[in-house]
Amino acid sequence: MVYVHNLSRVIIIIVFCNLQLIVTISPSIICNRIRGLSPKQKKICAESPDAFIALSNGHQLGALECQHQFKDNRWNCSEAWLKDIFGHFMVLGSKEAAFTYAIANAGVVYAIAAACSRGNISICGCDQYYRHQIAYQDKNFQPWKWGGCSVDIDFGIRFARKFLDAREIEADARSAMNLHNNQVGRKIVRKLLKKDCLCHGISGSCSLRTCWKTLPQFREIGDTLMMKYKKAKQVAAQNKDTGYNLVIRRSKIDKKPIMPKTLDLIYLEPSPTYCEKDIYLGSSGTHGRKCNRTSKGTDSCSMLCCGRGYITKLFHRTWQCNCKFIWEIMNVKCDICSERTEQYFCK
Ligand SMILES: *[C@@H]1O[C@H](CO)[C@@H](O)[C@H](O)[C@H]1NC(C)=O
Ligand SMILES: *[C@@H]1O[C@H](CO)[C@@H](O)[C@H](O)[C@H]1NC(C)=O
Ligand SMILES: *[C@@H]1O[C@H](CO)[C@@H](O)[C@H](O)[C@H]1NC(C)=O
Repeated sequence: MVYVHNLSRVIIIIVFCNLQLIVTISPSIICNRIRGLSPKQKKICAESPDAFIALSNGHQLGALECQHQFKDNRWNCSEAWLKDIFGHFMVLGSKEAAFTYAIANAGVVYAIAAACSRGNISICGCDQYYRHQIAYQDKNFQPWKWGGCSVDIDFGIRFARKFLDAREIEADARSAMNLHNNQVGRKIVRKLLKKDCLCHGISGSCSLRTCWKTLPQFREIGDTLMMKYKKAKQVAAQNKDTGYNLVIRRSKIDKKPIMPKTLDLIYLEPSPTYCEKDIYLGSSGTHGRKCNRTSKGTDSCSMLCCGRGYITKLFHRTWQCNCKFIWEIMNVKCDICSERTEQYFCK
């Protein structure tokens, strides 16, 4: 098992020491040390260590976004990323697992594509497809053409697929679920690409613009995946000779099976309540979690604490305030202000 801190230590060593030196001497030694990598992943790591660094950053980006999106929920994404970061990290085939795999893939595509367009990875750069010189017209008949550095999203997607799909070797229903959700995460990044433009022409007349494809804020990707998480579809495996086919579960068995859409997140098993700690279920429990007494949402004390109730802690804070310079005494005089706040924690 690899722990994130272990891995980031390896990466930090690579980044802070002379990159070329360590990497040219023995990328394969470093890659072999990272436990949890399959043989195929080790090979990819050794072949392009600079891309591997971006890949780790991307995984981290996904982890932070996952934690942001779920900060108010019982399952808050904090455990999922501690274990085995490039291997399997969630046992239960739940909706939460679906989100986790998708955001990890999105993070990797994002970081790789961003590093490529910054010129930080030797084997990729800008997307040459957008370099042809034809001029287009937008809907206001203003001319523009592709130019500058368009992000090479296809390289990012290919690299992430090669690396992250490589761990799905079991050829079972769960693998099929992971492969699907991995793909959702990668395709979302492509779907949310933006077009940035720059004006040319005498004194900003904008008679011609050049435009390029650029990445959105990663938050936008997180928000989109969160919407997909809320609408995730439960699927069941249809065992075919050709492998596993996942179809949407429906109440009537005799209805024709429906395949999930390409951009639907899918899951196999219903989620537990996440109220109690259960390592197998990927649940840390909510004992001791801070809750919000006035909220009506998932972070409310009733929801977060699962009906167990909460304890109130009083905090008293004092500080100097209303400070004024008094001429008569040639000095500053302040009042003492104080504030009592209450915080609530699940029993
Ligand atoms: C990318 O390259 C720049 C310099 O070209 C460097 O400062 C930066 O740290 C690099 N970033 C990564 C993630 O390697
Ligand atoms: C997430 O939940 C765990 C376990 O309940 C808790 O220790 C941690 O502080 C929570 N993280 C956030 C950001 O609330
Ligand atoms: C608690 O929830 C209310 C209502 O949603 C919100 O206005 C308030 O800022 C929240 N308090 C904290 C400490 O998050």
